[in-house]
This record gives sequence, structure tokens and C-alpha cells, in this order.
Amino acid sequence: MNYRHAFHAGNHADVLKHAVLLELCDALTAKPAPLFALDTHAGRGLYALDGAPARRTGEADDGIGRLTAPNAGLRRYLEAIDACRAEHGERIYPGSPWLLAHALREQDRIACCEIVPDEVERLRVAMASRPQVAVHARDGYGALHALLPPRSSEARIGRGLVLIDPAYENQMGEFDIALPALRDALGRFPQGTYALWYPIKLRRALQPVYRRAATLPAKSVLAAEVLVRKDDSPLRMNGSGLLIVNPPWKLDNRLRVVLPALAQALGEDAGAGWRMDWIVSPP
Ligand SMILES: C[S@@+](CC[C@H](N)C(=O)[O-])C[C@H]1O[C@@H](n2cnc3c(N)ncnc32)[C@H](O)[C@@H]1O
Repeated sequence: MNYRHAFHAGNHADVLKHAVLLELCDALTAKPAPLFALDTHAGRGLYALDGAPARRTGEADDGIGRLTAPNAGLRRYLEAIDACRAEHGERIYPGSPWLLAHALREQDRIACCEIVPDEVERLRVAMASRPQVAVHARDGYGALHALLPPRSSEARIGRGLVLIDPAYENQMGEFDIALPALRDALGRFPQGTYALWYPIKLRRALQPVYRRAATLPAKSVLAAEVLVRKDDSPLRMNGSGLLIVNPPWKLDNRLRVVLPALAQALGEDAGAGWRMDWIVSPP
């Protein structure tokens, strides 16, 4: 495992993923019933954009670094970034565990899984003051099996949000692990909402993935994507997307505001854009 998210934190893919994650949290907390969130590939929770890894790649400059002006479509996301920076410093970027803890409530529970020991230790420190967060040093795919359906000590929690955010070190081969794991999780926790993040190099190469996603045993599946440039190079991450399984009611309306705002702010050339497709349409 060579991947370290500290080199990539705050890049355009993080911005998309985290803006959508916050919309998911807000939609799912519209009801008072408790929610269980599982972050299968959690990372370290907080990232220093002035640290050596982030400075070496400069990726955040083309991500969060482009969002310096107020942006009505991204208000929710930018408020969360501001809240993190008020707490931790101006050059900090929050990871998904911090954002989940920020957006969810006292009655909710959050399980974060990370496999790299050093990242786990940092994550424990970052989440130490968050009683609703449990950090697990374990394989996130295994956690999909072990921690779903969610249970609390008092009662079964019937609602859940699962973020699956792997590093794609084995490129398209990651889907051969992620999609069966998702299918298995849906078998045991069918009412959960799941978001699988994926990179886009050549979008047409993803057609088999959409076809496989269409066979998932889900009520509905939505693909939400932002390209920051034309997807004509297989060597670069030209954009990214999330397959959202069982999205909450009206999430698509929220994303119709967020995705164009992201494409406009992060777009680098005329090939930039956004799209949202129902892979499985709601009943
Ligand atoms: C893309 S990063 C996660 C970023 C994080 N979700 C966020 O949004 O801030 C992927 C993380 O997964 C970790 N990882 C890789 N394989 C894993 C596995 N099988 N189980 C759990 N974590 C894993 C990596 O060490 C890395 O920190």
C-alpha cells in the first residue's frame, strides 16, 4: 500500500466527494431518527496543506485552492471548510471523518476504517474529541461485511450512510473488489445509502462499470460526476464521480445546484462539465 492521501488532499476529487457527502448527510439528517455512518477508507481525518506532501504535488491548488470567492452553489461545503479551519487552522483541509462528525448529530454513530497504521494513529488523534466516532484499524471492505447491518447497544439503527473511497491503486481492478462488496452489503443492509467514489480518466472506459452497477440489488442508483477537463488522456485524473446507491429523496435536486457550481469553479478547459445520470431509476 503506497498510497498516501496527504499528497492529494483538497484536490478536485476531494472537493466533489466532500461536497456531495455533506449533501447526503444533510438530506439524511432531515429526519430525527439516528443514523449510522461507515467510512470504509477513512484516511487521517485532517490534512495540512502547507505540509511537504501537499506542497510537493500542489493538487489542492487546483481543488479547494480555486474556491476563494463566495459561491452560492457551494455554500454548505465552504461553511464546513471554514468551520474546520476555525478549529484547526487556515491551512488545514478536512477529510471525510471530520466532515461526517461535523455534519452528523449526537444521536448518530460513525465508524471509520483505515488500514495504514500511521494514518490510523493520526485519525485517532483527529477524532479524539468526537464521542460519536469509532476508529477501526481494519480493512474497510471487511468492515462492510462485519459492521452492516448497523447496531447500537440499545437498539438496531435502521438508517445508514456508507462512504466507500478506495485509493484505486490497482486502477479499474478496484471495481472488481468494490462492486461485489457493495452487492454483499446491500444484501444485508438493503435500505442503506452507499456512495462509491471513482476517478475518471477516459469516461468511456467506465461503461462496463455503469452496466455492472445497474445490476445491483438497489431501489435506485445515481452517478454524479464532474470533469475538470476533457477526458481525452488515460494518464491523468480528468474528473471523478460517485455512484450513489439508494440516494435520499430529492438528493438529485440538491446536486443539480452543487455539480454545476463545482464544474464552473474547478473547470480548467472547455472540456470541463458535470453530469448526473440515473443508472437505476427510482420506482
Ligand atoms: C482516498 S483515501 C481516503 C480519503 C478519505 N475518505 C477522505 O475523503 O478524506 C483512501 C484511504 O484508504 C486507505 N486504505 C487503503 N486500502 C484500505 C483498505 N483495504 N481498508 C481501509 N483503508 C484502506 C488508504 O490508506 C487511504 O488513507
